[in-house]
Amino acid sequence: MLTEALDDDDDDKIAGSSAPVNQNPFGLPAQSMSPIPQRLGPEGYPLPATTPFPAATPFPAATPYPAATPYPAATPYPAATPYPAATPYPAATPYPAATPYPSATPFPGGFGGIFPPALMTSGMSCPFPVAPSPQVLPALPLPFSKPIPNGIRPGWRLLINGTVNPNCERFVINLIATSGKALHFNPRFEHPGPGLVVRNSCVNGSWGCEERDGGMPFLHLQRFEILFLCTDTEFKIAVNGLHFVVYKHRVPPQLINHFEIDENITLHHVHME
Ligand code: GAL
Repeated sequence: MLTEALDDDDDDKIAGSSAPVNQNPFGLPAQSMSPIPQRLGPEGYPLPATTPFPAATPFPAATPYPAATPYPAATPYPAATPYPAATPYPAATPYPAATPYPSATPFPGGFGGIFPPALMTSGMSCPFPVAPSPQVLPALPLPFSKPIPNGIRPGWRLLINGTVNPNCERFVINLIATSGKALHFNPRFEHPGPGLVVRNSCVNGSWGCEERDGGMPFLHLQRFEILFLCTDTEFKIAVNGLHFVVYKHRVPPQLINHFEIDENITLHHVHME
């Protein structure tokens, strides 16, 4: 009976069932059942259907794991730059043929070339022409130095006769005062071209302005003759009998007390008057 079904003892039973409302035939708790069984009210009428439990929101589909970015292909190791071919060693420049030693130029005047007329004092003469003969020239020790006892006056002359050594780069003739080099005469072969002759003064340790004009009248292995002639205002300088340059006095010439000739030549003769 329905009333029977609603008495106190059966209050918790499902209609038409001997099982308690909150139990299923397997004895499981009601909340684990689905669907929820219909319940009856106190009057035996079915209670309004319980609001069905909202359908479970479906679990969002799993975002697929992004495909792995492929590992970049390894950059190939650049091919080794080939080692440049060795520059071939330049062929050796043949050593220049030695300049033949110039045959002695006979000095003008018919003296056979054994004694330069420039070295003869005026009035000297040679009554008999002398047959040319191989010259044996003296070689004075270098460096050469000689005092000028009373200083230099206008009219003073210095004559130097020598031969340039084969490997000479420079040679030097200095007229020297107590304050320094009154005249530094410096032929230089190492300059491009034929070379040049530097003239200068060095006073109290300081070089002045160089004079470099005039060209280069000297040659390796060649004999030369240099004449320094003092005037009131300058030295006139001749080479091999030809005027070469002048050098204005920077130091009073009377203060010049000696001269010196450096190495790299063969010095044959020096004459001062
Ligand atoms: C210098 C040189 C010195 C002298 C001077 C003349 O360069 O070292 O020996 O020649 O020039 O100005």
